[in-house]
Amino acid sequence: MNDQDTPLPTGFELTALDEEFRTSPLPRLTRLRENAPVYYDASLNRYFLTKMSDLRTILKDKTMLADPRTSAPESYSRLLTGMPADGSNDYEPAILFQDNPNHHRLRSIVAQAFSLRNINAWEKRITAITHEILDGFAQEPEIDLVAQFAEQLPFRVIALILGIPKSEHEQFCQWGKDIALSLDPLRTPSQTKRMDHAAKKLSEYIGDMAQECRSVPKGDLLTILVNAEEEGARLSIEELKTMTKFLLTAGTLTVASLISSGMYLLLSNPKQLKKLQNNPALMPNAIEEMLRCTAPATETQRHCPHDLQMEEGQKLEAGKTICASLLAANHDPASFPNPEQFDIERENTKHISFGDGAHFCLGAQLARLEGRIAFTVLLERFPDISLVDDQPTYSGLPVFRTLQKLPLKLQGA
Ligand code: HEM
Repeated sequence: MNDQDTPLPTGFELTALDEEFRTSPLPRLTRLRENAPVYYDASLNRYFLTKMSDLRTILKDKTMLADPRTSAPESYSRLLTGMPADGSNDYEPAILFQDNPNHHRLRSIVAQAFSLRNINAWEKRITAITHEILDGFAQEPEIDLVAQFAEQLPFRVIALILGIPKSEHEQFCQWGKDIALSLDPLRTPSQTKRMDHAAKKLSEYIGDMAQECRSVPKGDLLTILVNAEEEGARLSIEELKTMTKFLLTAGTLTVASLISSGMYLLLSNPKQLKKLQNNPALMPNAIEEMLRCTAPATETQRHCPHDLQMEEGQKLEAGKTICASLLAANHDPASFPNPEQFDIERENTKHISFGDGAHFCLGAQLARLEGRIAFTVLLERFPDISLVDDQPTYSGLPVFRTLQKLPLKLQGA
């Protein structure tokens, strides 16, 4: 049977729950882009978009909605966010799943903390945290980059930014990791228990911290969020807790993925690694190329309140989820010649890994800064770093493309 006779992939075959897709998603995404760039994936009740130009159109369109409560009862957005079809829970979505006027209000508050000036002020402290983590395994011949570094750094950075006292970072980061289990549809009952416990503890902790920030305001993110609530009753305590939990997952798993998948790309392309080591000025471009190739968040969702006609004639029905495959668009040959090639000197690095339009990632500059510091310090301190195993395994989390483990030798053989 040749490729054209095989049915197009559908449902779980287009998610990380499917082993083949999890390991190697590009062949299926390329088939879709070539044969059905606006594809109705009936098994998961969603339109699946793979062309860069279509993604830009949808994500920039101001009439698009993100709140699953306004999508059709059986939509994929509801499934993904765990909302029952009848809407019978008191689910209050995080910022990414809010529409105006709420979205605008939440975004303008958080954006204050993510100004370029604030981000640059964190550079020294992020560099210090990076060195501190690496000091811990200076004597170790082999490490797992994912657990021992790539996950550690962003959790500690988010704790720092929120203004959590250093003595409580470890506990805070553990809650963050346990809460991230909410993204794993295959978690065990004991993991669910751990996740619920962490969510409760974090919620209480944030409540207490909010009290402190009111009496002794500091310059951290929690103070900004709390004072925004104070000044114009603009952020409720529940919204503050939801925002913290969201940042703890959106701002950590993604950066962990950039660091570990990016390192895997460098080490499995030794010429590119050498180029970067010989010319560190290439680092910012190398980070963009890593983001393009890996797309740490593989997709984002929207829906439309009215039927929509796409340029090439396809009609999208109102309320149905439109799944924008960021990973597929980043490999669209119409935007990137030889898209599967990892090239740190690529001229066009305008990837879509941070989304686009109203919900464009608020942490993009912070993520870039963390990536730049992580790779610079790692390669300076361990210039002979190498892979132990050239077949890494990916986790089965939907939406986030993350490596499960990346064993590395730190010193040359
Ligand atoms: C490599 C790292 C990261 C990647 C690839 C990434 C990717 C994304 C994507 C794809 C979106 C949705 C955009 C859309 O739907 O158009 C998003 C939204 C968001 N991200 Fe990130 N992100 C990263 C790091 C971070 C960090 C470090 C933070 C903060 C600590 C953060 C905070 C947010 C927030 C608050 C939103 C919601 C924005 C909104 O709805 O207005 N992200 N991110």
